[in-house]
Amino acid sequence: VKLWGGRFKKELNEKVEEFMRSLPFDKRLFREDIMVNLAWAEALAKIKILSEAELEKIKKALSEIEGEIERGEFKFLPTDEDIHTAIERALVEKVGEAGAKIHTGKSRNDQVVTDLKIYLKREIKEIARLLRDYLKALSELAEREKDLVMPGYTHLQPAQPVLFSHYILAYFWMGKRDFDRLVSCYKKMDYLPLGSGAFSGTSFPIDRKFLAQKLSFSHVTENSVDAVSSRDFALHFLNQAAILMIHLSRLAEDLILWNSKEFSFIELEDSFTTGSSLMPQKKNPDPLELVRAKAGRVIGNWVKLATVLKGLPLSYNRDLQEDKEALFDSVDTVKGALSFLPSLLSSLKVNPSQMRKSLQESDVLATEAADFLVEKGVPFREAHSLAGEAVKLAVERGESLEALSLKDWESVSPLFSAEIGDYLSIEKSLQRRNVEGGTSPQRLQEELEKAQHVLSRMEEWLK
Ligand code: ARG
Repeated sequence: VKLWGGRFKKELNEKVEEFMRSLPFDKRLFREDIMVNLAWAEALAKIKILSEAELEKIKKALSEIEGEIERGEFKFLPTDEDIHTAIERALVEKVGEAGAKIHTGKSRNDQVVTDLKIYLKREIKEIARLLRDYLKALSELAEREKDLVMPGYTHLQPAQPVLFSHYILAYFWMGKRDFDRLVSCYKKMDYLPLGSGAFSGTSFPIDRKFLAQKLSFSHVTENSVDAVSSRDFALHFLNQAAILMIHLSRLAEDLILWNSKEFSFIELEDSFTTGSSLMPQKKNPDPLELVRAKAGRVIGNWVKLATVLKGLPLSYNRDLQEDKEALFDSVDTVKGALSFLPSLLSSLKVNPSQMRKSLQESDVLATEAADFLVEKGVPFREAHSLAGEAVKLAVERGESLEALSLKDWESVSPLFSAEIGDYLSIEKSLQRRNVEGGTSPQRLQEELEKAQHVLSRMEEWLK
């Protein structure tokens, strides 16, 4: 069954038909398509294109169709191009003439974009909910391991001591911005396109505000051409999803490193690791590796749609059908990753003694030695160079900085006094970083409270 056979002498080429078909993937929009048809039928009844009796028949038939698709009983035909065609075809089969009136004043062009926005608004809320759970797990891990110190890295070289929780909360704030971006993306797409027809509007006096209310949109689109041509709402989401996955991939990478034998800072629970088919001793972090890799896939989906849209003339072109798979795939992938990260985080074990050992072996207090001299009035650049000499001395001896004697320190600079021994302490180094947003225990406490506040604000939006 075709929605458009009238002016053609020949049937569509079979291979072309197969090539163009979107049903295999747009099937998943059946609920949204039924909702849109229902709302549209009501709007048509309001302007007397459909009688009350016809409306009732249509409503009943649409809900039957929905049930049949849900239960897998619906018979899709090879000639159903897409989900819109399939549903309209079935409606006409069920109610005849009344069904044949449903497409009055609407086009698949405004219908498909409406379906897609309804779908995406719901999925954004769902993703935001999962994201909130992930952020909650991060904050709980930070709360649980409040006192734990580890070496922080720059260039993957040990740099300075940092509270493990402060480091973990870095991911919290990244995710909080992801949440805000999802909210903003949601708001920008909250405009109903239905009623835009093929692209120029519809000649029937359809009440679009009524439709918006029925379909839970806050506004109606201001321009019918824009409404059917634009997919920036989808592109925006794909971009936000990519940034979110990039963040998750960085967490994954940190955890993979820390879980390695060489670092041994953490241990992933068995249920989040896999064995090797060849090497019996192995316990591999495959799930996290896939989070890392799938970020690439989600970035790819964004690039894919951007490429489809670039240079595309207005208004509707069939190119736009290519928006869906990218969108569905990113939604599924992001949800998949977020679904297990909270439990992975809450079950991971930390290894304080290994972190301590690594701190002691890696001269992460060299900055403190320079700061010590600065407090004595030495300009920082000079202090940096003197501290560097002390490091050189320790390295030459194969010892750590803390092992240098007072004599050694004095040989580098007479300004190093007996207090240096006390100054070079991991705990004091942390306490001194008491600047707003720094890693001192006091600031961490503040940070944890702020995180709680952020989580409860998220709750409000999710209601
Ligand atoms: N399957 C199409 C899509 O996803 C529906 C719109 C078709 N419109 C048209 N004028 N051919 O974009």
